[in-house]
Amino acid sequence: MKLHLKIWRQRDAQSNGALVDYDLDGIDQHMSFLEMMDTLNGQLILNGDMPVEFDHDCREGICGSCGMMVNGQAHGPVAGLTVCQLHMREFKDGATIYVEPFRAAAFPLKRDLKIDRSAFDRIIQAGGFISASTGSAIEANNLPITHDMAESAFDSAACIGCGACVATCKNSSAALFTSAKVSHLVKLPQGKLEAEKRVIQMVGQMDVEGFGHCSNTEACEVKCPQGISVLNIAMMNWEFNKSSLLG
Ligand code: FES
Repeated sequence: MKLHLKIWRQRDAQSNGALVDYDLDGIDQHMSFLEMMDTLNGQLILNGDMPVEFDHDCREGICGSCGMMVNGQAHGPVAGLTVCQLHMREFKDGATIYVEPFRAAAFPLKRDLKIDRSAFDRIIQAGGFISASTGSAIEANNLPITHDMAESAFDSAACIGCGACVATCKNSSAALFTSAKVSHLVKLPQGKLEAEKRVIQMVGQMDVEGFGHCSNTEACEVKCPQGISVLNIAMMNWEFNKSSLLG
């Protein structure tokens, strides 16, 4: 395949950035999008140029490290995929592809396509854990959790924290991410002990970090590679209101 790439290059958060044009030839349609980017970087290095910086780790769609806007869409044009799982066969030979970083005030740009998503870590630190002493592992069937509730909690826990929800939302809201973390704990008995404090602190931290408010467009669910449901946001709002009234 031949490709024409227009990639956002920016030295650091203080510098101005711009789309830079690159032509690539000989790309195999079965390459992943990141392998295509690796090929470009190999050529840039051979030419003595700076490679394009982007985040990645597992390249299996499970760690949430990767993320970029491809042709204006978080993780690219295919629903339910991270960009590391996107393959070049989804593009036409000769295509022009725009590649830009996830853009949000709470995700400051580090360089090129690489952003700082530590705001998510701080939301988790604010309450996304249980502190009950569990002792040694008990017989699993002793915990009174229905199959449906266990499945529902697992669906919420599937959030990989990639930030596509924020990048897609017109308000740069982190409501889907935060609500998934709140929901998966509050659905289980182990998470109920600290439920009231947790939701207040995590929503508060979300505001401190500068994420916008949810205005129910549901774009986040559409572009979430894990299919996290906006019902988690409804549950977070319910828990927040309940905790505010009780507090
Ligand atoms: S690199 Fe881990 S999800 Fe893409």
